Amino acid sequence: MSVYETELVVEVREFAAEGVLALTLRHPLGEPLPAWEPGAHVDLVLGPGLERPYSLCGDPADRRAWRIAVLREPAGRGGSAHVHEQLRPGDKVRVRGPRNHFALRPAAGYRFVAGGIGITPILPMLAAAEAAGAEWSLLYGGRTRGSMAFAGELARYGDRVTVAPQDETGLLDLGSVLDALPEGTLVYCCGPTPLLDAVQERCPADVLRVERFQARDEPAGEEGEFEVELARSGRTLTVAAGVSVLDTVRAAGVEVLYSCTEGTCGTCETDVLEGTPEHRDCVLSPQEREAGETMMICVSRCRGRKLVLDL
Ligand code: FES
Repeated sequence: MSVYETELVVEVREFAAEGVLALTLRHPLGEPLPAWEPGAHVDLVLGPGLERPYSLCGDPADRRAWRIAVLREPAGRGGSAHVHEQLRPGDKVRVRGPRNHFALRPAAGYRFVAGGIGITPILPMLAAAEAAGAEWSLLYGGRTRGSMAFAGELARYGDRVTVAPQDETGLLDLGSVLDALPEGTLVYCCGPTPLLDAVQERCPADVLRVERFQARDEPAGEEGEFEVELARSGRTLTVAAGVSVLDTVRAAGVEVLYSCTEGTCGTCETDVLEGTPEHRDCVLSPQEREAGETMMICVSRCRGRKLVLDL
């Protein structure tokens, strides 16, 4: 599988809210960038071991530029600090993607719920829902009004959008949008873990799609050792307890793409040819988990003794 990867130039660097930096990236030679659809993200390859996924939040019809927005996270692992401190207009940055594990499925209506920087994948979805003539609304929460990115861009949608800063209105009133969902309505939610968990509790799984920026605490489950057979070479490796499939195959010299290593970005998604994965990622939907056709090898393991992977 070949994935687009190239160096892009930072064309515009501007603050979209307190602590949220929006970057517009272009190809240095003005070449068109790969097409993408709402919900897609790209990986910024910032240095060895420093790759971070960011949702595309510009206009999918604009093939000349990609826009991302990066929240500065003082307690983060260094990706957001690097973007805020190092990247200036004219600088080059290596970018891989786009990928989409949060695609907008056709529906008669949508309820969008965004928390904080979780507005980024939702933003292009709103334009797509509007263009499709769907019935939709957005409930957008944040700490304070000043910390909520793109509130100005949302104004054009009028009362379809409810902006609810916590210091003004308290916790999001999820019941107002999630109770009594009309038939054929899908719910898309992106934001911090407590918000996603609260939405998941109120919403039937078959109408809900979420995108997590942070790993979910998965129940421990099977931790024991198992085997993976790499179908392309016929090699069989032993995955030791406490070691990931990703680390095991990389240690054996097999090149695989990965980014977050915590089951949130989808970069390491691998086809499963035989065996039953024990999913521990935050990317696959309940239906995709059940199907067991792919797995995120950075976190997911094996139910039973053996997996055969398309590696
Ligand atoms: S590397 Fe991100 S999901 Fe595996």
